[in-house]
Amino acid sequence: MRAARIHAFGGSEKVKVETIAVPRIKKNAALIRIRAAAVNPVDWMVRERIYNPRGADKLPLTLGQDFAGVIVQVASGSATSLRKGDEVLGETWGSFADFAVAPLKDLVRKPRSLGFVVAASIPMPALTAWQMVIDTAKASPQKTFLIHGASGGVGSFAAQFAKWKGAHVIATASRPGFRHLERIGVDVIIDYKKERFEKKVTGVDVVIDPIGGDTQKRSWGVLKKGGMLINLIGEIDRAAAARAGVRGVEFGMRYDTDDLRRIVALIERGLVRPHVARVFPLGQVRRALDMNENGRSHGKIVLRVA
Ligand SMILES: NC(=O)c1ccc[n+]([C@@H]2O[C@H](COP(=O)([O-])OP(=O)(O)OC[C@H]3O[C@@H](n4cnc5c(N)ncnc54)[C@H](OP(=O)(O)O)[C@@H]3O)[C@@H](O)[C@H]2O)c1
Repeated sequence: MRAARIHAFGGSEKVKVETIAVPRIKKNAALIRIRAAAVNPVDWMVRERIYNPRGADKLPLTLGQDFAGVIVQVASGSATSLRKGDEVLGETWGSFADFAVAPLKDLVRKPRSLGFVVAASIPMPALTAWQMVIDTAKASPQKTFLIHGASGGVGSFAAQFAKWKGAHVIATASRPGFRHLERIGVDVIIDYKKERFEKKVTGVDVVIDPIGGDTQKRSWGVLKKGGMLINLIGEIDRAAAARAGVRGVEFGMRYDTDDLRRIVALIERGLVRPHVARVFPLGQVRRALDMNENGRSHGKIVLRVA
């Protein structure tokens, strides 16, 4: 089978699409024929060893995590209702390949009405957005959200979950993302490349910040007292949060198939639309990773595998 692998951590030149053996199935796991796999920032962070989690720390390493595909084999003796031929989505290390092994407990059924490309674009960004906007920030019609990076994977889902709960949503993005943000009903769009958001925004309840650094620094002042900034990258400046009289939350996504099923149901009903900007064949994995790393994806990039 084909697999996008690295034999040393580093830049995209380290990635090679190689022919290797199909992975062996383990207990309580399924072998999946990958049909599509989405690119997330974590994929080039793992490749560069900026992020080195268990499961993606040993070489040679097949890249990729989010996927949608078809079960080709279920480990014998597993207690599951999943069967060969079922269409599923989820996360597993090594999804940039023709086949991957995933724990059965981590799989969610893909509705037939959702294509594989759209389904693959969901798990990581949508779960992250759901747990921030619904569980942590408790979006409601009384709340105003400022969502940075709203054209990106996480930001686009965050904006839509907040709108779905009736919140007022202000979004920052650059020009290529505007059409999508208008379509999903964001209330105010600010071009972060041309405008200073802190000059236009004040008194928000929640800031969703997948950018950090200077964006975090400039965000404290737009929050009302008692508000909340949820940070996805780097660290919270605790002293700045205290000075502003707000809560700073350092957020980490927890993989949860119940949450993923709820999200898939919303997408199936057309209430939320994944923002797939580009689709590349697996052979163009380097280009796909580079585009995301260089801030040129303006939405999700998905690899079509089969
Ligand atoms: N902690 C966790 O559990 C967790 C989970 C998921 C993701 N993350 C992290 O969250 C970050 C975002 O992930 P993602 O999947 O959404 O990435 P993404 O799809 O690459 O999106 C990033 C977005 O950031 C926007 N952007 C860049 N600079 C900006 C600025 N100065 N102001 C406002 N927007 C700006 C870009 O907007 P334009 O395209 O419009 O220019 C782009 O759409 C990554 O660093 C990722 O590693 C963390």
